[in-house]
Amino acid sequence: MRQHKLALCATHYPEWIVNQAQRFIKKYTMFNHHERILVAVSGGKDSLSLWDILWQLGYQADGVYIDLGIDGGLEYSASSLQFCEQFASQRNLRLKVFSVPKTYGIGIPEIAAKTNRGRQKPCSVCGLSKRHIMNQIALEGGYNALVTGHNLDDEVATLFGNTLNWNVSFLERQSPVLPARQTGLVRKAKPLCRFYERETAAYALVRGIQYINEECPFAAGSTSIFYKNLLNQLEQEKPGAKLNFYLSFLQAKAKGMHSTAIGQESNGEDEAIGMAGETLYTCPNCGQPTTVVGLCSFCRMMEKISR
Ligand code: AMP
Ligand code: FES
Ligand code: ZN
Repeated sequence: MRQHKLALCATHYPEWIVNQAQRFIKKYTMFNHHERILVAVSGGKDSLSLWDILWQLGYQADGVYIDLGIDGGLEYSASSLQFCEQFASQRNLRLKVFSVPKTYGIGIPEIAAKTNRGRQKPCSVCGLSKRHIMNQIALEGGYNALVTGHNLDDEVATLFGNTLNWNVSFLERQSPVLPARQTGLVRKAKPLCRFYERETAAYALVRGIQYINEECPFAAGSTSIFYKNLLNQLEQEKPGAKLNFYLSFLQAKAKGMHSTAIGQESNGEDEAIGMAGETLYTCPNCGQPTTVVGLCSFCRMMEKISR
């Protein structure tokens, strides 16, 4: 690990990762051993490594998998589910499965095709639906925190995009942990946010975790992949640049550099929901908070396509 000027063997590496993860969980006050955690697992290396780490640390962590109904010629959703099920059964862990096609009759690509949002790619519909469903399941299950496997590369690509567009409300919301400020919004945490993607991949390899290798068939050509490639070039030249970008951002935020977002107009997307000082309303259909009066973005979308 050039960025840390550190090299570890296959015995000490996973121990180091687990200890570091525990350090970050504590540092950012993500959750504690008395709380119930819901891990959103996609079947990929990050979220399954995260579940494995939390399991080793003795947290009460159940998993949730959302079947998005994506096939892409490789049965993407079905085989992702298999990896999650196999992981859970090997460790005797509880996995909840929510199926979009079984619940709504169609999968995310078909939902997207019926909306303006999904004219080009279903990714925005997919993101909106995942956020909504994950929050709903965590609330209904009475979980204290919902955790995702976002790694440093994911966080830095998001940060880069939000900085290029100077999207202050999203910058204010980007954090290792988002407290549940409002009823109806569960606390969210990203315990892997300071690990490079290479580090989580190495962890999965050393721990013998089997995961889906393929990316989502709609991911190719995405802006976030383009940003990740750019940032990797930067990292190549300047080891530690990605970590430094992220940590400097967190420090700037701690000093209040993004607090001007308060009072900014909402974009009505519910994505930057829960900013301090923001007025939130309750969706009359699902009961989740929303930035506009009436249905939340997800329920509005589902209502449109059922017409
Ligand atoms: P992505 O948005 O695909 O980069 O995934 C980021 C994180 O969201 C993953 O690390 C998981 O924690 C979670 N996630 C992604 N897809 C799913 C899914 N189908 N079901 C449950 N959690 C997911
Ligand atoms: Fe959602 Fe690819 S469109 S995972
Ligand atoms: Zn709703």
